[in-house]
Amino acid sequence: MTNTASSLLGVRFIGSGSAVPDRVLTNHDLAQMVDTNDEWISSRTGIRERHIADGEEDSVASLASKAGQKAIAAAGLTPQDIDLIILSTSTSDDLFGTAGRVQKLLGAERAVAFDLVAACSGFVFGLVTASQYIHTGTYKNVLLIGADVLSRWVDWQDRRTCILFGDGAGAVLLQASSQNKPENNLLGFEMRSDGKGNEFLNINYLGRSTFEPISMNGQEVYRFAVRQVPEVIEKSLHYAQLEVNDLDWLILHQANQRIIDAVVNRFGIDPAKAVSNMGKYGNTSAASIPIALDEWVQSGKIQPNHLIAIAGFGAGLSWGSAVFRWG
Ligand code: COA
Repeated sequence: MTNTASSLLGVRFIGSGSAVPDRVLTNHDLAQMVDTNDEWISSRTGIRERHIADGEEDSVASLASKAGQKAIAAAGLTPQDIDLIILSTSTSDDLFGTAGRVQKLLGAERAVAFDLVAACSGFVFGLVTASQYIHTGTYKNVLLIGADVLSRWVDWQDRRTCILFGDGAGAVLLQASSQNKPENNLLGFEMRSDGKGNEFLNINYLGRSTFEPISMNGQEVYRFAVRQVPEVIEKSLHYAQLEVNDLDWLILHQANQRIIDAVVNRFGIDPAKAVSNMGKYGNTSAASIPIALDEWVQSGKIQPNHLIAIAGFGAGLSWGSAVFRWG
């Protein structure tokens, strides 16, 4: 097992899209709500502002479908072309699943749709899941969406957590390569879980149809990320038979600028290759990687054939990485 698919149908990356709520909450706004300040938040995390859902308008389903719609259009397809929708989310509008609502909003009537719950690793795990359906020839056009509205689950009195999170959605359109031209642009991946660390980051069931707000041991999560993320990136690069210097872009889950800096230093790569937009969005969980990817695609920085490594990490604990060629 090499975590690549040389003899099967290949995966192509043919479009991206993203959506965030209009409402912006700055660090200065937060300083009016809890005992904190812009200097503390930005120096410890790199976050300056985040977009926060504002009522019904900004549900997981609405943000996800807006991002999905853009990805479908960017790929030059219509909703009727979509065979499968995977919605990576941990903040579902409905505990039974939100993907069906997204399918309805998109009008993707032919598609089967389901949720995938893997917190901030959701986009990486969703990409690997989608790729299995594509490699085996089961589905041709797969819409993968990462969407989260963590603002619903944050204790807005807890300054240790409420400063970190924002809401949003990002999507990519994955397509099977044709039989005649079997190129595979998903080059390698690695996924990991360690339930022993579940206590460090969770939203636990409280009973009587209620959950607790997000609970986090920041220092443990920070140590876990800095230790484990480089290892899974090295693994996925190894499966892809690439070196870190071959990469055009490194897109880590946008949790903390210091985590990105630590990984950049560890690999000794050019910091300009490490995509960072958390200053504007905070940690949007499963949405953070596809929002960043889409922003870099829209601005023309990511070009066809660029080599990209992504890595997600978070609750579970779970973490994972994938290396792919854009296009
Ligand atoms: N504003 C001001 N002070 C704050 C604060 C805030 N928002 N939050 C915590 N503090 C205080 C603490 O009370 C503590 O004060 P004390 O020393 O008087 O007790 C002090 O700052 C240091 O707190 P600590 O928790 O040790 O800070 P830290 O350097 O570990 O930074 C995080 C906290 C959350 C920024 C950091 O641990 C982190 O980013 N961890 C990773 C979290 C993450 O990415 N989670 C999501 C993963 S998907």
